[in-house]
Amino acid sequence: MASQKIAYRSAIVHSVADPKDVGLDDSYQYFEDGVLVVENGHIVDIGSADDVLARQPKHITVKVFKDKIITSGFIDTHIHYPQTGMIASYGEQLLDWLENYTFPEELRFKNPIYAHQVATLFLDELASNGTTTALVFGTVHKESVNVFFEEAEKRNLRMIAGKVLMDRNAPDYLTDTPQSGYEESKELIERWHNKGRLHYAVTPRFAPTSTNEQLATVGQLLKEYPDVFMHTHLSENKKEIEWVLDLFPERESYLDVYDHYGLLHKRSVFAHGIHLSDCECQRLADTDSSIAFCPTSNLFLGSGLFNLPKMEKFNINVGMGTDVGAGTSFSLLQTMSEAYKIMQLQQEKLHPVKSLFLATLGGAKALHLDDKIGNLAIGKEADFVVLDLHATQLMRFRMKQTTNLEEKLFVLMSLGDDRTVSQTYIYGKKAYDIHGETPKAQI
Ligand code: GUN
Ligand code: ZN
Repeated sequence: MASQKIAYRSAIVHSVADPKDVGLDDSYQYFEDGVLVVENGHIVDIGSADDVLARQPKHITVKVFKDKIITSGFIDTHIHYPQTGMIASYGEQLLDWLENYTFPEELRFKNPIYAHQVATLFLDELASNGTTTALVFGTVHKESVNVFFEEAEKRNLRMIAGKVLMDRNAPDYLTDTPQSGYEESKELIERWHNKGRLHYAVTPRFAPTSTNEQLATVGQLLKEYPDVFMHTHLSENKKEIEWVLDLFPERESYLDVYDHYGLLHKRSVFAHGIHLSDCECQRLADTDSSIAFCPTSNLFLGSGLFNLPKMEKFNINVGMGTDVGAGTSFSLLQTMSEAYKIMQLQQEKLHPVKSLFLATLGGAKALHLDDKIGNLAIGKEADFVVLDLHATQLMRFRMKQTTNLEEKLFVLMSLGDDRTVSQTYIYGKKAYDIHGETPKAQI
């Protein structure tokens, strides 16, 4: 059924290119008094209010937002839905954190009822934080992915997810085998990949928890289904890297383990990539692979400082990830704030316009979905957020002192969080309103 054409009038900003390619000024569009027109789930017009309203039908419905700014929905390029219940677990770095907190929690996803409850709460959290697309880890249990996709489908979300593959160095209760992991992944791909707005990601957890045989099955799946995603972790923690080199002495580097099995392609997304050599960077660039930069997680687990300028030098696609539950916030605004601080610690600057790019169009490019999402260009799917510039007393006061858009954006991303997200629209429909009914997940 065709949906009514609606115009949304507000300040509007969106990213149109990577600032590194075109310079800051040409990398975004800003309309102080703008209008976005949506019909049938797509953006059909955007521009200054005067221009757009002059060319649209006279009686078009116009929704007006005051003290707000509309931008494209945020894209989280790395997150674990099953870790929602153990976010903020104290005291460990990666490998002990996995053993002590993560694996016991992931065991609970054997029960699809629990998995469904967490998936519901997780998707509610994404909506209230303005995240409209995410690349999501399930657990080793195929049902964890079925319930996730069922819930995402109900909400008409563009989502990517996959079942974890793990056949060693993990508790028995959480492992599969090369054969069962392959077969279950295949079944899930057949059921969900490209169904509506959903996509599948083949998801080996990371090199240490897969045997050579299992990694070979990942390569096999990517050959059989060349347009599925590949999602894993890479070079996050120094001990992890040493462990990989011990486990795979015949390989030249951590990345080479994945490369050997054909796991690098344009829909491959590697979370972290903090400690990469030049050779590894070159290989990521040559294969058009992407990295998910996960600032709150990298700080929380003490993993290290991500070298964004190096990624730019090698021309590697980078998106932002929250990496919940090692990450400490679902908010991409908070994630941008921590990214800024990570750059500060390396005597580098992260401009707010670049941050906006990374959290929207950059994420879409990293996922190779930028023909559909990532900004508010005409023809794209209408996933957008209405951000409240006056969400808190402090923000209202601070905003008064700003004199231009760039300052406003920086305040938004330094002080903003879910309180700042006034509405979230999915495929042209309001999916979340801060003044609406609070969802009460049965958990
Ligand atoms: N490396 C392997 N598994 C994980 C995980 O669940 N979280 C993070 N941050 N790193 C990992
Ligand atoms: Zn992760």
